Amino acid sequence: MFPELTRDDVFRLETRRLWLRWPRMGDANAILRLAGEKAVAEMTASIPHPYPTQAVEPFIFGARKGNTLGEHLVLAITPRSKPNELIGMVSAHKQATGVPFIGYWLGTPHWGKGYATEAVQGLIDSLFSLIDLPAIEADTRVINPASRRVLEKSGFRSEGSFLKSLPARGGLFPCEQFRLDRSTWAALKSWSASGWAHAPDPEADEEPARAPTLAMPPRRQQEQGEPCPA
Ligand SMILES: CC(C)(COP(=O)(O)OP(=O)(O)OC[C@H]1O[C@@H](n2cnc3c(N)ncnc32)[C@H](O)[C@@H]1OP(=O)(O)O)[C@@H](O)C(=O)NCCC(=O)NCCS
Repeated sequence: MFPELTRDDVFRLETRRLWLRWPRMGDANAILRLAGEKAVAEMTASIPHPYPTQAVEPFIFGARKGNTLGEHLVLAITPRSKPNELIGMVSAHKQATGVPFIGYWLGTPHWGKGYATEAVQGLIDSLFSLIDLPAIEADTRVINPASRRVLEKSGFRSEGSFLKSLPARGGLFPCEQFRLDRSTWAALKSWSASGWAHAPDPEADEEPARAPTLAMPPRRQQEQGEPCPA
């Protein structure tokens, strides 16, 4: 499902404030520290809590391997000014239906600044631009209004609630299913291209988010992280 472009570890997505890049072994401590927080893990299907130290390197290896094979696209979220500093992750996964499924998390110090929305929108723009997809899906626990809001701000609509197995949480939990059809995404993109925009927030201490750029062509960059065996 995922094209050649995303299968090379030079692949980057660039948004207004973020770089989304392949994870690498140098991210291990940040993943342990940030994904290791209960507030992050408990809203996800697969992040264990407590996060065993020995689990992080196999996770990064598996993420890179799956990226190479085109099984999924798992990316580190980093500030553009500090691309070695992982602050969260965003991912897309194949499903048998042909409609990919996205997931994301952000470390708690970085919540509430619009970063998750910016990363999710960057990812969905790229997926729809690079792949002939009819739609993208996501779900959230029903007790997770922040995640619901990220999806709503990105154009997803709710398709109802269901019980989902969350393996790392150890059972079935009420979740809400969301879907973004290509036609809705295309309409939202054409509206933003028409020039309509919120007025900038004078209180904001950082530049406001704007529509993310589409996938960047691969650029050869000097990697500063540890080499990865993948
Ligand atoms: C969900 C998560 C990624 C959101 O990250 P974030 O960077 O804070 O998200 P954003 O700032 O882009 O947007 C959050 C939105 O939710 C809103 N929000 C936050 N907490 C909320 C709450 N308790 N009730 C209602 N809305 C809430 C924010 O106000 C914001 O909406 P706004 O821009 O309209 O004001 C982050 O909370 C997280 O990592 N949680 C744990 C892991 C997780 O839930 N992953 C998703 C699994 S489906």
